Amino acid sequence: MVKNRTFTFEDFENYNQLSEDEQALVAQAYEISAKAYAPYSKFKVGATALLENGEIVAGSNQENIAYPSGLCAERVALFFAGANFPDQKVVTLCVVAKGDLLPFDMVLSPCGGCRQVMLETEMRQQKPMRVIIVSQNKRTIIFSSAKDLLPFAFGTE
Ligand code: THU
Repeated sequence: MVKNRTFTFEDFENYNQLSEDEQALVAQAYEISAKAYAPYSKFKVGATALLENGEIVAGSNQENIAYPSGLCAERVALFFAGANFPDQKVVTLCVVAKGDLLPFDMVLSPCGGCRQVMLETEMRQQKPMRVIIVSQNKRTIIFSSAKDLLPFAFGTE
C-alpha cells in the first residue's frame, strides 16, 4: 500500500512582506549572523528565537577545526533558550544565512540535526513553533510547525 503525506508552507518573495515584528526578528538574525565563527565554510548563519515572554534570543554557527564539533546557528539559539529560559516556549524561530557555500538562489534549508532539535523543542513545550527561513535572495519560507520539516521523525508517533 502506498501512502501520501503533504505538508504546507508559506512562500514569500521577500521578507519585507512579513509583519513588522517578524521583519525585526529577521533583522536581528542578520545582525547575529555577522558574529558567526565560520572560518572553514565562510557560511555565516544567524538564528533568532522569539520566546513567549517577548524575549528574543539569538545564535550564530560556531565551527571547529574538528568539524563535527561545531554547531549550527539554530541549535545554538535553541539550546541557549533551553538553558536560560527553560520555562519559556519558543514561538518563532528565524534563520538567515550569507556565504558562497550555497548558490544565491538556493533555498536555505536547516540540516536534519537542527530539525530534530526543533521537533524536540516543540514536544517539550507541547506547542508548535513557527519556523521562518530566509534564503540569500531574500525568499522567505515559513512553516507553522517543525513537524512539517521532519516527517517520520525519530521519537514521534
Ligand atoms: N549551518 C547552520 O548554522 N545552519 C543551517 O541551517 C545550515 C548550516 C552552518 C553549519 C556550518 O557552520 C556552516 O553552516 C556550513 O554548513
